[in-house]
Amino acid sequence: MSESRVAEPPPRAQHAERPPAAPPLLRVRGVGKRFPGVVALDAVDFELTAGEVHCLLGENGAGKSTLVKILAGAQRADEGEIELNGEAVSFASPQEAQRHGLAFIFQELSVVPSLSVADNIALGNERVRGGLLQRREAHAEARALMESIGFPGIDPGRPVRTLSIAEQQGVMIARALRLDSRVIVMDEATSALTGEEVARLFALIRRLKQGGRAIVFVSHRLQELAEIGDRVTVFKDGRHVATVPASTPPQELVRLMVGREVQGFPDGGRRRSGEVVLRARGLRTARLDGVDLDVRAGEVLGVAGLVGSGRTELLRALFGADRLDGGSVELDGRALRLRRPGDAIDAGLALVPEDRRGQGIVALRSVGENLLTIWETHRRLRPRGERPRVLAQRLREQLAIKTPSLEQRISLLSGGNQQKVVIGKWLAVGPRVLLLDEPTKGIDVGAKMELFRLVDRLARAGMAVVMVSSELPEVLGMADRICVMKDGRIAREFEPGVSEEEIVAVALSEEEEAK
Ligand SMILES: Nc1ncnc2c1ncn2[C@@H]1O[C@H](COP(=O)(O)OP(=O)(O)OP(=O)(O)O)[C@@H](O)[C@H]1O
Ligand SMILES: [Mg+2]
Repeated sequence: MSESRVAEPPPRAQHAERPPAAPPLLRVRGVGKRFPGVVALDAVDFELTAGEVHCLLGENGAGKSTLVKILAGAQRADEGEIELNGEAVSFASPQEAQRHGLAFIFQELSVVPSLSVADNIALGNERVRGGLLQRREAHAEARALMESIGFPGIDPGRPVRTLSIAEQQGVMIARALRLDSRVIVMDEATSALTGEEVARLFALIRRLKQGGRAIVFVSHRLQELAEIGDRVTVFKDGRHVATVPASTPPQELVRLMVGREVQGFPDGGRRRSGEVVLRARGLRTARLDGVDLDVRAGEVLGVAGLVGSGRTELLRALFGADRLDGGSVELDGRALRLRRPGDAIDAGLALVPEDRRGQGIVALRSVGENLLTIWETHRRLRPRGERPRVLAQRLREQLAIKTPSLEQRISLLSGGNQQKVVIGKWLAVGPRVLLLDEPTKGIDVGAKMELFRLVDRLARAGMAVVMVSSELPEVLGMADRICVMKDGRIAREFEPGVSEEEIVAVALSEEEEAK
């Protein structure tokens, strides 16, 4: 750890970047947190002013979520102080943090899925009169709160598990408002939202700000920070690097967080695609309405479309994860019988799913074990020669997976590093076709480009890649061809030179476009 810390003034010095007057609502001083083999936070300072949106930025594993968890009382700092309104506080539990006016919206939501909307909003602070729960009042209150934050018409009696992610976040925000929380912390809250849902959340954040609340906002999407943030604090390797205005140019932010210039999309010229490797005809499932698709060796096929247009379902159908009601899939000219994912894997297909935690990893197993799961279970696919440990170690290095060791339990890795392991476990067996569903979700900007370089290398070495992404610049930057899905079909195919607007127009179009 020899790198120098960038301009962090001593405690009493003037912070040039701090807006004048308003005393900090929350002050974190010298907070440190160590885990076995990892310094997650190293004497970190952080300040939050009433009425500001303060963003946290940093590479995967930089320590953002650790700070959030310490503030939430979910983890204890090894050292340092937290002050709220000038008074030292320390939270032994999330309930205590909540009582002090801090609310948290995580990506893995802390709602209770089986409880109703109203019960979740009132959780831990129910209205009781004469020993009786005031259900009708609680429902009226929940309805009004949800409506006030832009979610009208949700039945307060509905179990929360039946709501969309955005609506569930709404429930958490409603709870925060009901408790009159002064500080609302959102850790990657937007990563699972659609564009429209993000816009609604931002409108709400602006109102919360005007009401004098302070927001801590964590996201890997730089354009979001510019749009909603006031200040940005950058962490690197557990240290505070700088606190700068959110209007700081993105390249500068990236330089602060990565410590060097980040390269752009791989630019090795057009890839030369070969034979058709994967051929699908008339695929029908509950959500697909007759999809024809050819994927060639050596190409990256981008799949764009709105949420719900059938992109994930297409990958799942190709992978044997959803029941086919009709249609056929061929690999290298041979018909595949896809009854279950195991059939697809044996044939040489790989799927990196959107829901990493639910489907991509075995949470209780180590990094090494996760890297070797496919290698272990599909003997036929094992490349010859390399010993498993050496293989796992090579993948760890190739993907720059940040972990103290291969023995570390995977659930203890930061989100982005878990994603790298999910990709690594497929590279252990070298599939013919790689299906990627939102592969950059939760991945920092530097790691994203590393990932794209890797995908580019794999394609150039002859792998056929299908990549679904909601981030159009990524699709445009990577794909040799772009399919736009709509209502369970491929509405249109484009060459790489196409503009974002043209893709969006097709994705949104009412009429089915002629192919
Ligand atoms: N409970 C834990 N046990 C061991 N190590 C941990 C634990 N929680 C976090 N870490 C490690 O601490 C470091 C910081 O992790 P943290 O989750 O705070 O990163 P992050 O900045 O939120 O990253 P990301 O952008 O990927 O979410 C990482 O190296 C992580 O593996
Ligand atoms: Mg995190």
